[in-house]
Amino acid sequence: MRRGILTIATVGLLVTGGVAACGDDSGSDNDAGSDKKPKIGVILPDSKSSGRWENADRKFLEAAFKAAGVEAVIQNAQDDKNQFQTIADQMITGGVTALMIVNLDSGTGKAVLERAKSQGVATIDYDRLTLGGSAEYYVSFDNEVVGKLQGEGLTKCLTDKGVQKPVVAYLNGSPTDNNATLFKNGYDSVLKPKFDSGEYVKGPEQSVPAWDNAQGATLFEQMLTQTGGKIDGVLAANDGLGNAAISVLKKNKLNGKVPVTGQDADVQGLQNILAGDQCMTVYKAIKQEADAAAELAIGLAKGERKETGQTVKDPESGRDVPSVLLTPKLIFKENVKDVVADGFVTKEALCTAEYAKLCAEAGIS
Ligand code: BGC
Repeated sequence: MRRGILTIATVGLLVTGGVAACGDDSGSDNDAGSDKKPKIGVILPDSKSSGRWENADRKFLEAAFKAAGVEAVIQNAQDDKNQFQTIADQMITGGVTALMIVNLDSGTGKAVLERAKSQGVATIDYDRLTLGGSAEYYVSFDNEVVGKLQGEGLTKCLTDKGVQKPVVAYLNGSPTDNNATLFKNGYDSVLKPKFDSGEYVKGPEQSVPAWDNAQGATLFEQMLTQTGGKIDGVLAANDGLGNAAISVLKKNKLNGKVPVTGQDADVQGLQNILAGDQCMTVYKAIKQEADAAAELAIGLAKGERKETGQTVKDPESGRDVPSVLLTPKLIFKENVKDVVADGFVTKEALCTAEYAKLCAEAGIS
């Protein structure tokens, strides 16, 4: 019964993503034989750069594996590359038949993928592509579109505020996360033409190591000082960095005046949007990502190779990596309610006493 629910839900997803899901074990190059009982290992990156990993990804992955009746072990490397490798080694020695990783950087990610491969363990890059890596699949969102939505969202908020020649600062994600590069490509595609035409002015820009929120606040404080307070919009790559910028803007009584972007639709990001301190966020339905990855991992563990119907070119090796890329959604104050309706965030978590009135005004009842 539970297995049926997972299959229907995931096949529905794969079909919407233009993917034909069909089992085929001819393409398998790992010896995760069908005689072995599937056991999946998942390594999450940290629990501080975004609440998503522990609050959403872990929960939805656990549910997907449970529904399929498959044994899984999910661990978090807590932003420690040595720990990341140790966990991977333990999982491989412990007999996982497929390994799913969210790399901390491509170097360690690649080493782990290669070690798994040498032991006959199939692999998946979950959310972040490992450059030069060897994973059988890459499951993520269309991350350039994520960045494009951030650029478009910021443009709308700046237009609404009627700011002329706004100075826009960038707080990019981690320089070692390929997603951060893709997000930036996306927002640059919207904002760079405006900088080039003189409609907007490019302000300071910093990439935040490991997406560290505290460091993001320090860097943003420096930007604000450096510009003498003249920053009119902040392209922050996720909700955590957005909140870091907002905390500094608050100290300077500029919150609500300077639009700030985000990503992940986490509770704090959504509350910042309801309060008018954050312009937008990007909602990524992590349940779809977890379901798709779990289905592929279970297939791999049985020695099957499912068709995803899509590939992404690894810019380092030129390899076409079979991929599932899901569609992100732009969230402004008006449609925060959609994130609640989708079950990603509960009304109880979002609409605490301080936000109850704002929730009601935003139609979250
Ligand atoms: C993910 C984002 C997340 C960030 C920090 C990125 O790779 O795609 O959802 O906010 O990492 O953890």
